Amino acid sequence: MIIRPEEPPDIAAIRFVNEQAFDGSGEANAIEALRDRGAASLSLVAVIADRVVGHLFFTPAGIESADRSWPALGLAPLAVLPEYQRRGVGSALMDAGLEECRRLGCERIIVLGHPDYYPRFGFERASQYNVRFEFEAPDEACMILALQPGALDGISGVAKYQPEWNGV
Ligand SMILES: CC(C)(COP(=O)(O)OP(=O)(O)OC[C@H]1O[C@@H](n2cnc3c(N)ncnc32)[C@H](O)[C@@H]1OP(=O)(O)O)[C@@H](O)C(=O)NCCC(=O)NCCS
Repeated sequence: MIIRPEEPPDIAAIRFVNEQAFDGSGEANAIEALRDRGAASLSLVAVIADRVVGHLFFTPAGIESADRSWPALGLAPLAVLPEYQRRGVGSALMDAGLEECRRLGCERIIVLGHPDYYPRFGFERASQYNVRFEFEAPDEACMILALQPGALDGISGVAKYQPEWNGV
């Protein structure tokens, strides 16, 4: 398996992976809209035998309070083709993605996702840090990760994603 940044010829395959993983086109449409307006912070693909089988995408995000904001990256989505799931593809994408985000200087990451999956990568419940999400979602699905020491100290506010994610 190779994990690498997306390249222009991968665009159709990335749509396919997301449509198959989520059984719909909402995520794929949002990814393309964000990419088209230059709001993709990091887009990685997992390739097995020359086929794109997984995709991980990050966009600019933040935690906003009345008088302060803390920049972050929003992880959304992580997708693996159904027939390639539970073989370590998602974990390989996450390990490479988090390392690259750290290298890029990102201090914190937010995710709205499966509470049984993301804690293995260090994500914690955002509400522990007085961070709430705008979306209607169970508290345990709203998570945050510090990529630098102290990155969650004193933080408090609302986690904001790019508007393309509203309603997806
Ligand atoms: C979630 C997803 C990305 C995981 O990718 P993957 O390549 O299957 O994951 P890995 O093989 O690295 O890890 C498998 C582990 O994740 C767990 N896992 C997989 N999907 C899970 C899910 N939906 N909820 C909770 N745990 C899940 C498995 O139980 C397994 O745990 P184990 O190692 O303790 O047995 C993949 O299942 C997927 O694309 N799902 C559909 C889209 C989706 O829901 N994306 C996440 C949006 S937040």
